[in-house]
Amino acid sequence: MAITDKTSLQLPKENLEAEDFLPLLGTDYIELYVGNAKQAAHYYMSAWGFQPLAYAGLETGLKDKVSYVVQQDKIRLVLTSPLKSGGEINAHIDKHGDGVKAIALWVDDASKSYLETTDRGAESYFEPRKLEDKDGEVILSGIHTYGETVHVFVERKNYNGVFMPGYTAWKPFYNPTDVGLNYVDHMVGNVGWNEMNKWCKFYAEVMGFAQLVSFDDKDISTEYTALMSKVMSNGNGRIKFPINEPADGRKKSQIEEYIEFYNGAGVQHMALATDNIIETVTALRNRGIDFLTVPSSYYEDVLDRVGEIDEDLEPLRELGILIDRDDEGYLLQIFTKPILDRPTMFIEIIQRKGAKSFGKGNFKALFEAIEREQESRGTL
Ligand code: FE2
Repeated sequence: MAITDKTSLQLPKENLEAEDFLPLLGTDYIELYVGNAKQAAHYYMSAWGFQPLAYAGLETGLKDKVSYVVQQDKIRLVLTSPLKSGGEINAHIDKHGDGVKAIALWVDDASKSYLETTDRGAESYFEPRKLEDKDGEVILSGIHTYGETVHVFVERKNYNGVFMPGYTAWKPFYNPTDVGLNYVDHMVGNVGWNEMNKWCKFYAEVMGFAQLVSFDDKDISTEYTALMSKVMSNGNGRIKFPINEPADGRKKSQIEEYIEFYNGAGVQHMALATDNIIETVTALRNRGIDFLTVPSSYYEDVLDRVGEIDEDLEPLRELGILIDRDDEGYLLQIFTKPILDRPTMFIEIIQRKGAKSFGKGNFKALFEAIEREQESRGTL
């Protein structure tokens, strides 16, 4: 399927299903390579309300790395650190800082997923391999995507264990309550200058995705910064990957700042869905998460723009939650400041009330908020 510039490729549903050579059941897990997995796990539990799930390390027979797995409803994070110097994980952390290594996709058949994608030009990360233990078997395979990020295909229909073979259940005494996060809504990649179309083409041709939306620099620009973005989605719509590239602006765009500090393309943000954003964001704020704020003038005319909403405006204003509407409904969203030392990855919290879009109406207010942060970092 060819990608046309600035044109939405909205295929009829039957076509999408007929073309779906890579049926994806959902996001299986997101693996981050981090400097200190034990402390990262504590952060995601204490601040973000994830629950401890599984562990692999020296005690389970690993010699050179450790992984903690935490879960909140359908969202699973794998936090991995090296135990020795040298090697691929250290090199990744040295180059990028903490960041997303793998977006793992849940499939029925990991071997077929590997063949279908590598036949269409995907670069192999690893060939299908079977992992077994007393609880059954998991088949994994992997391909490369933008930067040093990879997709791992996970086939787990014959597995009943806690996560996958090699991991043991992790049941610490500390087990804070969740904050109401339910699933991964979308994962956004930042790529370099003039690379957006290349990676959209990759998702279209290699993975059978279709383009949902496209934003150009006229949609997404402020006085200083600009970016372009296209949203790629798989056939059943469960997996959505917006891809951003920088565009010319008067000063350095947030995408360029990311690429400079991440040393290349990578995951910019993960959007996690809740069905009560006011409660979720209140809990997150009380647990120490910093969010971007927009000027209170945003709320003066927001209801003129988006119309009636179910929520009271006051708590939304107090928390800094943004509102946008499309033909199908509205959405509520908010973005954290970068969650790492480098100004790279952040997290979006989103509640969809019918809307299937991504908050285009908020881009300008949001990017001006990001620019205020960039200015304080001296990177604008
Ligand atoms: Fe997003």
